[in-house]
Amino acid sequence: MNISIRTELESDYREVENMVREAFWDVYKPGSSEHLILHKLRKSPAFVPELHLIACDDRKIVGNIAYSKAYVMNPHDVRFEVLCMGPISVLPEYQGKGIGSLLLRKSIEKARQLGYRAVVIFGHPGYYGRFGFRNAEVFHITTSDGHNFDAFMVLDLSGNRLAGIEGRFFADPAFDVDAGELDEFDASFPWKEKHVTDTQFK
Ligand SMILES: CC(C)(COP(=O)(O)OP(=O)(O)OC[C@H]1O[C@@H](n2cnc3c(N)ncnc32)[C@H](O)[C@@H]1OP(=O)(O)O)[C@@H](O)C(=O)NCCC(=O)NCCS
Repeated sequence: MNISIRTELESDYREVENMVREAFWDVYKPGSSEHLILHKLRKSPAFVPELHLIACDDRKIVGNIAYSKAYVMNPHDVRFEVLCMGPISVLPEYQGKGIGSLLLRKSIEKARQLGYRAVVIFGHPGYYGRFGFRNAEVFHITTSDGHNFDAFMVLDLSGNRLAGIEGRFFADPAFDVDAGELDEFDASFPWKEKHVTDTQFK
């Protein structure tokens, strides 16, 4: 294994989408939608191409991490720009070898250098906690409909407890996927059987 990390090029798009599809397939639902989310995100003005890092084993693309601009709106309708992280993916046969951690560490450092103040994610607390993410509730940030739960986490890049950023979180509309557009998009990839698996109930 000879892993390197670089930003994504246009010529990588299809291979990256196929890799994302493979990584998420059957993990959270039968099939996956994250390859379409990434496809839509790239076309959105919210997408941050300089933070879209990919991991390669020699020339083969084996992982990615993507970020988009999102916002937190306070009760006075003042908006604060933050980053939303996702999708992050590593090909199943490359998982558990530190590639996801490498992508997270490198991209977080770059996001900090670019001056972003916070990263918001929906993910597993056991995994993301080790990178400094904390429950969004600590920062008085809720989902757009006012909820908090363990998987909803925030990383403070400002070093200043988010410098007054609080309120409701809104991600880019590219994350909203409808079943019809997903079926149509997925049909352009090699056919894969969908399964109900244990990981979908965790
Ligand atoms: C999540 C993912 C990107 C992590 O990448 P990775 O290269 O396997 O991660 P690393 O090797 O850096 O870290 C492995 C550690 O993460 C933990 N981990 C990986 N996926 C996890 C998950 N879904 N929930 C909890 N812990 C997880 C492993 O148990 C391991 O823990 P350890 O270091 O204590 O042994 C990768 O497993 C993946 O693509 N999964 C499918 C898609 C997905 O779930 N994406 C994230 C959505 S929030």
